[in-house]
Amino acid sequence: MAFHQITLTINGETEIIEVPSNMTLLQMLREKVVLTGTKNGCAAGECGACTVMLNGEPVNSCLVLAVECDGAQITTVEGLAQNNHLSPIQEAIVAHGGVQCGFCTPGVLISAQALLNRNPQPTDHEIRDALVGNLCRCTGYLRIIEAVKEAAKQHAVTV
Ligand code: FES
Ligand code: FES
Repeated sequence: MAFHQITLTINGETEIIEVPSNMTLLQMLREKVVLTGTKNGCAAGECGACTVMLNGEPVNSCLVLAVECDGAQITTVEGLAQNNHLSPIQEAIVAHGGVQCGFCTPGVLISAQALLNRNPQPTDHEIRDALVGNLCRCTGYLRIIEAVKEAAKQHAVTV
């Protein structure tokens, strides 16, 4: 097995990490960096629980090799809160009851934040489209969608 040294930025911190060729970004985050907020639901690109931002775009980290992330910027759910304060989308998902077991929540939050970053005032259709890859067995989705709408409103107030 070949090993590679990669340098990348994770939640604003520069990291130099040695990874085997076949290690996924998901495995690297959970096992090497010990950021376990990102979840392994299916390891096959089906559930969205492993969603992180790779250079600002949401990706299924179970489908990305760590070695491909040399030089990249990664944002995980741990990077959303700032100065010990939950972000607007985190506050909103709690307030709207969009979290039950919580297994999908890190991926949902990252997909939602990526949407709000590129489109601060999304339509209902755009919200549903952005979250189509994030499966949730608990909330029925409406509460999650309401939370994204609320976070967009907050953004509109604060911008
Ligand atoms: S764990 Fe990556 S999509 Fe399910
Ligand atoms: S809150 Fe349980 S899977 Fe979404």
